[in-house]
Amino acid sequence: MLDSYKILTITHRQTPLQSIGKFIIAHENEAALRSRLEELKSDFGVDEMLYLATCNRVMFLFNREKSLSPDFIQQFFQAVNPQLSADFIEKHVVTYEGKAAVDHLFKVTASIDSLVVGEREILRQLREAYDRCLNWNLTGDNIRIIMQAAVVAAKEVYAQTRLGEKSVSVVSLAVKELLKTKLPKNARILMIGAGQTNMLVSKFLAKYGFTNVSVFNRTFEKAEQLARMTGGSAYKFSELESYQQGFDCLIACTGATQAVVDKKLYSSLLAGETSRKVVIDLSVPNNVCKEVVQDFDVHFIEVEGLRALAQVNLSFREQEVTVAIELLETHLEEFETTARNRRIERALHRIPGEVTAVKERALNEVFKKEVEVLDESTRQLLERMMTYMEKKCTGIPMKVAKEALTVPA
Ligand SMILES: NC(=O)c1ccc[n+]([C@@H]2O[C@H](COP(=O)([O-])OP(=O)(O)OC[C@H]3O[C@@H](n4cnc5c(N)ncnc54)[C@H](OP(=O)(O)O)[C@@H]3O)[C@@H](O)[C@H]2O)c1
Repeated sequence: MLDSYKILTITHRQTPLQSIGKFIIAHENEAALRSRLEELKSDFGVDEMLYLATCNRVMFLFNREKSLSPDFIQQFFQAVNPQLSADFIEKHVVTYEGKAAVDHLFKVTASIDSLVVGEREILRQLREAYDRCLNWNLTGDNIRIIMQAAVVAAKEVYAQTRLGEKSVSVVSLAVKELLKTKLPKNARILMIGAGQTNMLVSKFLAKYGFTNVSVFNRTFEKAEQLARMTGGSAYKFSELESYQQGFDCLIACTGATQAVVDKKLYSSLLAGETSRKVVIDLSVPNNVCKEVVQDFDVHFIEVEGLRALAQVNLSFREQEVTVAIELLETHLEEFETTARNRRIERALHRIPGEVTAVKERALNEVFKKEVEVLDESTRQLLERMMTYMEKKCTGIPMKVAKEALTVPA
């Protein structure tokens, strides 16, 4: 009953992230993507198609009766990207068919197959991919019911397990540590670096209401961008040495390969203050030199400790995977029944049209001559009887099937 579901996918499990990008459909805008997907669907005889592309996964979910032969897979991905070699396609593309495809989709949706297990972002990405493909008429009833079942299953996994409970992101763990220090919302935060990591830190600072943030960066525009997120101020990196407004918390995260905050700079930044400071260093290697931590009164939060904590939390999440898989197995069984029932319902919907066609043929072809010689009232009676039979014949299979579908076997 599930045979028509097929998945072709390239994921972080088998493929380095930079190679996954080669399987993404190149497109300049949404209209171009739509037309490429429509072409693929029609050229490869696929009844329904859902396309998902994230930074660590490309997935094509098909509804297609025919099996996916090696030739089909090669030609399909050659059409996606003509630069892909046969060996490359064979090495990276994973195929799931039938029950295995449903099982895979459920695991992806429930974030068991994610790069970071328990990361719920995938559920949003899948729903968006589905809505888009639905709007573009690429999907139909089969993908509708499997998506519905996958979302229900994923929500139960999120609700009934502790899969997404403990944070595995170094940045969010760092901010949690900062919150534990109970610094007031107007604490003076001095941020060094305005790259991706500090961008994330800034989002959290804004979320928790810290507004007194001074951002220092070599590229001033990036410092301005981050300062805007919290309503703080931007400075050039070179202005650090002359900054004399003191601070309560220093957050350092740059790509520098040597410490950027040495004893001399730290002393200067203290601007004569002697109170205990919070220092967060997310850089690898550390941006704040060891002597600062040793010689000054600091509450030091650094990346290695946070990474170890993230690893512990990830192991915790992975233990929950077993519980999640058991839950998904129940949903998988239920879905087999749902798919079977739905298939019967769809078949039954053809009955009324076919019965009406039989009636019309009887009156207008098979018994045409006999009907023509009848007087008007007999002819009307015959038609009424035929219509009565038509309705009864349509209703009986519907009624029988409904009873059969609702009573468990
Ligand atoms: N803790 C984690 O989980 C985690 C995650 C990712 C990264 N990291 C670490 O965080 C650091 C930054 O990563 P990122 O992803 O945020 O990098 P990024 O987006 O490439 O940004 C690098 C930042 O560092 C600045 N920078 C680079 N070299 C510098 C130097 N010699 N002196 C002063 N500033 C310098 C850049 O300034 P410009 O804008 O002027 O170029 C930019 O603000 C790295 O050490 C990385 O290993 C940690």
